[in-house]
Amino acid sequence: MPTAMVAGATGILGREIVKELCSRPDEWTAVYTMSRSKKEDFGPQVRHIHLDLNAKPEDMAKDMANLQVDYVFFAAYLQMNSEEENTRVNGTSEFLIKEPSKANSKEGDMLDAFCKALEINGHAAGIKRFVLVTGAKNYGVYFGEVKIPMEEDDPWLPEPPFPPNFYYRQQHILHNFTKKHGIEWNVTYSNEVFGFAKGNFMNFASAIAIYAAVSKELGDELVFPGSEEFYKIVTMFTDAGLHARFVRWASLESLAANQAFNVTNGDVESWMNLWPKVAKYFGLSVPSDQFLRSAPLASERPLAKESPLSVVANDIGLKGRAPQSYLRPRVDLVKWAETDEVQSAWKRLSDTHGLDPETLEKATWAFANFAWGRDYNVVLSMTKARNLGWTGYLDSWENLRNIFDELKKEKVIPN
Ligand SMILES: NC(=O)c1ccc[n+]([C@@H]2O[C@H](COP(=O)([O-])OP(=O)(O)OC[C@H]3O[C@@H](n4cnc5c(N)ncnc54)[C@H](OP(=O)(O)O)[C@@H]3O)[C@@H](O)[C@H]2O)c1
Repeated sequence: MPTAMVAGATGILGREIVKELCSRPDEWTAVYTMSRSKKEDFGPQVRHIHLDLNAKPEDMAKDMANLQVDYVFFAAYLQMNSEEENTRVNGTSEFLIKEPSKANSKEGDMLDAFCKALEINGHAAGIKRFVLVTGAKNYGVYFGEVKIPMEEDDPWLPEPPFPPNFYYRQQHILHNFTKKHGIEWNVTYSNEVFGFAKGNFMNFASAIAIYAAVSKELGDELVFPGSEEFYKIVTMFTDAGLHARFVRWASLESLAANQAFNVTNGDVESWMNLWPKVAKYFGLSVPSDQFLRSAPLASERPLAKESPLSVVANDIGLKGRAPQSYLRPRVDLVKWAETDEVQSAWKRLSDTHGLDPETLEKATWAFANFAWGRDYNVVLSMTKARNLGWTGYLDSWENLRNIFDELKKEKVIPN
């Protein structure tokens, strides 16, 4: 039986991978978990290794010495303030060759340093499969309108005019490292993830739940904070648990070797369908005239001048028809979270229900503005995986409702 190593084991996606592997003790002899913190006990077959991916590869190699490593799942991620910083910290590599003088010159370079550590301590030669967890940013979904559905073979966005994409850096590192050592690989592209990790506030489901809990505390109805356009078009989600089942399946499936895969729940959703269900869950109603009301906290922000769709527009008969996209949240949640009435409402809730008072401030409001404020469809094709035998599926409302239940249990929102 093989062993597995999960880097980023405390994260939203990594923790579910650990849980999935641990639920199959007949399949894995040992699971090594790696992160700087240790937040929960996963069970007897897990050995936790305190690892700082910003450390020198030589030091990391010592921390990982004397292990047998067969399967690697890399889900570590450090959110930085800009895409340039994200690229450097999460990816930059001398495997890229382009600018070797910059490689490993500073802290960061997490994936590269990790791969080097595996070379230094001799583990690299024995690895069977290396799975890298990334996301739909691969398609530039944060730059503007994308071709739908997004398919794994779609061309990568040229840099420039597009800014650096750290997922491309990470995949270059992966491809070069695995080629050098004869290792099979997989990459996953998730869309917005519904999941939960202790102390992690970069979590869309938490932002939705906090917005609803505060609306209720204020005696308001549940006004959709995003754009009317996005309310009426379609999007997709990825459950962290389903993603974990996917990476286990892909890593053990020989037909899936050396390929990247979209990973979503498999249903196509819209907020006009989900929002009334969210309201009902929190005992609220959706105002029938929500898009006719004045929107004093609205904002508008243009996305990249060239949309990702423009890259393929000429080839698919859309020349000149791929305009710049905009974020137009009707309630700018960054501003909303800063208002006195919202802050007082959260203080009352946290005092009454014993919640973390800082949750409101730490929640990912800028991301929620983006996720709800867009004006284009977000659809990822699951055909490639299905053609190879993947049958996983999850109803995204059921998924979100389960996460809300967990957020209540973990005292992120009032029970
Ligand atoms: N969450 C989403 O909505 C979403 C959507 C699509 C794609 N993705 C992608 O999925 C991947 C994983 O994201 P996630 O949301 O699961 O991340 P996350 O919840 O923020 O977890 C990040 C993990 O990385 C570890 N980590 C960070 N810095 C580290 C360091 N210096 N040394 C060792 N470990 C470190 C963290 O553990 P410690 O802090 O304990 O060290 C944690 O276990 C990323 O590429 C992300 O872009 C995420």
